[in-house]
Amino acid sequence: MRTILVIGIGAGNPDYLTLQAIKAMNRAEVFFMPDKGEEKAGLNAIRLAMLEQFVSEPRYRLVEFAIPSRRKAATPDYRDSVEEWRDKLEVAYQRMFAELPDDGVGAFLVWGDPALYDGTLRILRDMQAAGSPIAIEVIPGISAPQALAAQHQVTLNRVGEAVTITTGRRVGEGEADALSSAVVMLDNHQVFRRFAMDEAEIFWGAYLGTADEILVAGKVSEVMDEIDAKRREAQARHGWIMDTYMIRKPQAD
Ligand SMILES: C[S@@+](CC[C@H](N)C(=O)[O-])C[C@H]1O[C@@H](n2cnc3c(N)ncnc32)[C@H](O)[C@@H]1O
Repeated sequence: MRTILVIGIGAGNPDYLTLQAIKAMNRAEVFFMPDKGEEKAGLNAIRLAMLEQFVSEPRYRLVEFAIPSRRKAATPDYRDSVEEWRDKLEVAYQRMFAELPDDGVGAFLVWGDPALYDGTLRILRDMQAAGSPIAIEVIPGISAPQALAAQHQVTLNRVGEAVTITTGRRVGEGEADALSSAVVMLDNHQVFRRFAMDEAEIFWGAYLGTADEILVAGKVSEVMDEIDAKRREAQARHGWIMDTYMIRKPQAD
């Protein structure tokens, strides 16, 4: 049976790679590489540098696959579009796995942790459920929220409280308005501005763990323009940006 390794490689810093991830990288004959857009090119350069640095006897091949474009998240039929997108990727995966010998080992180098806002594992599990004869192994990685917390030296939860990790889209719809804190990912619209009147603090990080890392922390009302300006400048320079932040409101007690 073919084995597919889903390796979490951490959110940017090669030092985030675990020993388990490095051992797994050394087992793979084929690495499946997403090949769409400037962002993917930037992330692939980091993936390739990791392979160069940590695979001791390079015998692997790279197989590229196109990520199909997805309808905008704002459309009412967003879920359908996600389904369609996943179906297309499943077809691409089937084709790639055929490149492996029957007992071969292939690997996806998943950014951050495979359990957080990443479709790879779900697609593979769906394929397995539909009868595809593959064995799956998952290696956890350091996610962007963990990298953010470490760089700002903060905890994600307040004592005894829940942790909410959510998307910019949902926060823009008001999801975090009544929460005392939230970690926000996938935000293209700087929805943190809606907390400027709440005396809330923001801990913001872009390109976390990489040489281009930018960190800003302070009251939302005081730093939101600085974040906007830094975000815009960095996005123009790199052609893409990845940022994550935590909003923390003053405690009621
Ligand atoms: C598709 S999700 C992937 C998350 C990833 N699986 C993880 O565990 O962090 C992409 C989002 O993760 C966040 N992200 C990932 N890497 C990041 C980094 N190095 N710096 C800041 N944010 C990052 C951003 O919010 C970005 O929009």
